[in-house]
Amino acid sequence: AASKSELDTRIRRAKETLGDSVVVLGHFYQRDEVVQYADFVGDSFQLANAAKTRPDARAIVFCGVHFMAETADILAQPSQAVILPNLAAGCSMADMADIDSVEEAWAQLASVYGSEPDAEGRVPIIPVTYMNSSADLKGFCGRNGGIVCTSSNAATVLEWAFERGQRVLFFPDQHLGRNTAKAMGVPVERMPLWNPRKPLGGSTADELTDARVILWNGFCSVHKRFTVAQIERARAAHPDVRVIVHPECPMPVVDAADGAGSTDYIVKAIAAAPAGSTFAIGTEINLVQRLANQYPQHTIFCLDDVICPCSTMYRIHPGYLAWVLESLVDGVVLNQISVPASVAEPARVALERMLAARP
Ligand code: 13P
Ligand code: SF4
Repeated sequence: AASKSELDTRIRRAKETLGDSVVVLGHFYQRDEVVQYADFVGDSFQLANAAKTRPDARAIVFCGVHFMAETADILAQPSQAVILPNLAAGCSMADMADIDSVEEAWAQLASVYGSEPDAEGRVPIIPVTYMNSSADLKGFCGRNGGIVCTSSNAATVLEWAFERGQRVLFFPDQHLGRNTAKAMGVPVERMPLWNPRKPLGGSTADELTDARVILWNGFCSVHKRFTVAQIERARAAHPDVRVIVHPECPMPVVDAADGAGSTDYIVKAIAAAPAGSTFAIGTEINLVQRLANQYPQHTIFCLDDVICPCSTMYRIHPGYLAWVLESLVDGVVLNQISVPASVAEPARVALERMLAARP
C-alpha cells in the first residue's frame, strides 16, 4: 500500500495537472486526510450549491456519500462528470426508504385522503424527502408536488409544504421530521410513524386524518447513539457546557440540548463563541475532532465517548482520491455517478423548489 506521504504527493500532483478542470468537494464528516484536498468543504446544502458554482469544471469529485454525488449530478451541467471516489460510500439512512415502499404508502394514503383540495386550496398531503435519500425519492417528490429539504432548511421547507398541503409525508429520517415539526408547534401526537409492513402504516384512518406529519421509520445509526444520559453527564462534569446536537438525534436528545442544527450550524456556533467556551457536540466524530483541533482556545468534545464515525463517509480513503484523480489526468473517468434523465428531471424540480424556498 502507498504511504501517506506518497499519496499526498500523488494527489497534489494530479490536482495541479488538472487545475480548474476538476473541483473536489468534501463533506464536513470526511476525515482530515481527505478534507485537506477539498476545494469546498461544507454541509449537504452548501455542497449542493457548490456543485452548481463551477460549471467550468469538467469533473466534480465528491468526497461524501452516494446521495450527495447523485444530487451533484442532477444539479451539474450535462457535460460534467460527477465522481464518487469509492462507490461503496452509501448512507444507511438513505437506504431505509425505497421507491416501491414509498409509492405503496402514497397509494394507501390517497385511499384515505382522496385528492380534493380543502377550502384554502391545499392538497391533502405533500411529500417531503430529506436530502439523505436516493434520487428516485427526490424524483417522486418532484412528480407529486413535493420538495427536498436538508437539515439546514427543514423548517423553511415544511412551511413551504404547509402552505400548499394539509399534511406532510416526511422520509426517510423520522427524527429530523419530528424535531423540526415539533419546533414549529406541531403536536407529537399528530405525527404517526409509518410502518411499511402494516396496512395504513399501522395507524387507523382517523389517526391519519388527524395527522399533520407522517414520519417514515428511518434513522441515522450514528446520531441515534446519542442519549440524554450523556448530556446529563456532560453538564455534571462541565456546568458551563453548551450542548449542540444534529437534528438527526432522537427528540429527547434535541430537547435536552442547548441547540440543534446542521453541521454548518455547529461549525458556526463554535466559530462565534468567546475564547474559553466549552462545547459538547452530538454529531459525527471526524467533524468534532477537527473542530477541537481548530479551536484549542475552547474545550470541545463529543457527547459519546465511544468513537462514533460514520462508517460509510469513512470509506472515502485518500488512496481512492488519488486513484480517481490520476485516472482523470489520463483522460479516464472512473466511478461516475450518473442519474438517468427520467429520474433526474423530476428530482431537479424538487431540488430547485428547495433552493428557491430559502428564506
Ligand atoms: P448536514 O446536512 O448537516 O451536512 O448533514 C448531512 C448528514 O449526512 C448528517 O448525517
Ligand atoms: Fe447517513 Fe448518518 Fe452517515 Fe449522515 S452520518 S451519511 S445520515 S449514516
